[in-house]
Amino acid sequence: MSLTSEHLHAAAQQYGTPLYVYDATELDAALARIRAAFGTARVYYAMKANPNLTLLRRLHAQGVGFECVSPGELARAQHIGAAGERIIVNGPAKTPGEYALGARLGATFILDREDEVALLPPSSRALVRVNPALNISTHDHLATGAAHSKFGVTLEQAPRVLAALRAAGHTALGLHVHIGSAIRDARDFTAAFGRLTELRGQTGPLGVLDAGGGWGLGADLHGIAREAHATAATFGAQLWVEPGRYLVAQAGTLLTRVIGTKRTGRNFTLVDAGMTELLRPMLYGAQHPVTPLWHREGTGTWDLAGPACESGDLLARDVTLPAPQAGDLLAIGEAGAYGAAMSSNYLTRARPAEVLHENGTWTVIRRRETPQDIWQAEDAAG
Ligand SMILES: Cc1ncc(COP(=O)(O)O)c(C=O)c1O
Repeated sequence: MSLTSEHLHAAAQQYGTPLYVYDATELDAALARIRAAFGTARVYYAMKANPNLTLLRRLHAQGVGFECVSPGELARAQHIGAAGERIIVNGPAKTPGEYALGARLGATFILDREDEVALLPPSSRALVRVNPALNISTHDHLATGAAHSKFGVTLEQAPRVLAALRAAGHTALGLHVHIGSAIRDARDFTAAFGRLTELRGQTGPLGVLDAGGGWGLGADLHGIAREAHATAATFGAQLWVEPGRYLVAQAGTLLTRVIGTKRTGRNFTLVDAGMTELLRPMLYGAQHPVTPLWHREGTGTWDLAGPACESGDLLARDVTLPAPQAGDLLAIGEAGAYGAAMSSNYLTRARPAEVLHENGTWTVIRRRETPQDIWQAEDAAG
């Protein structure tokens, strides 16, 4: 990350904590790495990773499309002016409103089950999501291409669904596969693409192979890209990809201040951010790099605990910290993906502000919520 400790201290001072900070340089660098690896592939950002409008607009201006998996995400795409070939509508249980708005915007649909063919608006363009039924080397909640996961149709069903699409007057554009998230072992992708090639000769002509996202930080992007392109080529199809985490994770950092410490059965450093600001450690056992932004004698090992009245509210275990004191500042790294996006108002905790750093300037891209923001909809109802 190009942001220094001084930058981070200044942001925390100016905007308060907990605070999400984003580095525009880092976001652009991640996109450049993806483009360098995947070349001609069309890039659709899986906005679930971070749907902040400023980030979406920045990516839109750079030619990126969007993968939307909810009515709200589709509304965001519409709001920033994305349309037509720049939008994919995905999800295992789309609502009538998503089909209607998707059609109005000229989006491409990803079919997740056979009976969706009958639900599509007339003359739609659609891909069929295939579940390759593999063991994926990631947390079970992050594996979407396992036989027991709810996503996609089976390899056996896929040719039938493509044929049904054509028979119903739609464009059967191609196949889609997305096997999970935070996957570092490129062999998982090779295995998934290998399953797809088993369908060669059974699909009719395909225009697109969408290889999804799921690349963990540090994954061999060039290796994955080579395999994905080779698979697309076996179908004579164009390659599309849907990165979420890889594109935005490293651009984001969560800043949190120490509230105090206590030594009981373990050593706890209590901080002002927790599961309501960053859920991933609790939800997936995710490990984020933690950097103390102070120097002091007396290094020890600490569990980083949030302020929620939940025993699972831990951001990290066994972190080495130099004698933490109230007011010290910590940077939780790789928090740009599924960080702010998964933050919640549980305990009527107002979600943090988000700020973007570019060319030496900070811009607030989401103001800090207030308790009134949270109960506003309830008051209106009353
Ligand atoms: C269909 C689909 N595409 C892309 C993504 C993005 O995954 P990641 O953020 O791991 O790249 C997801 C994430 O869940 C997804 O479900």
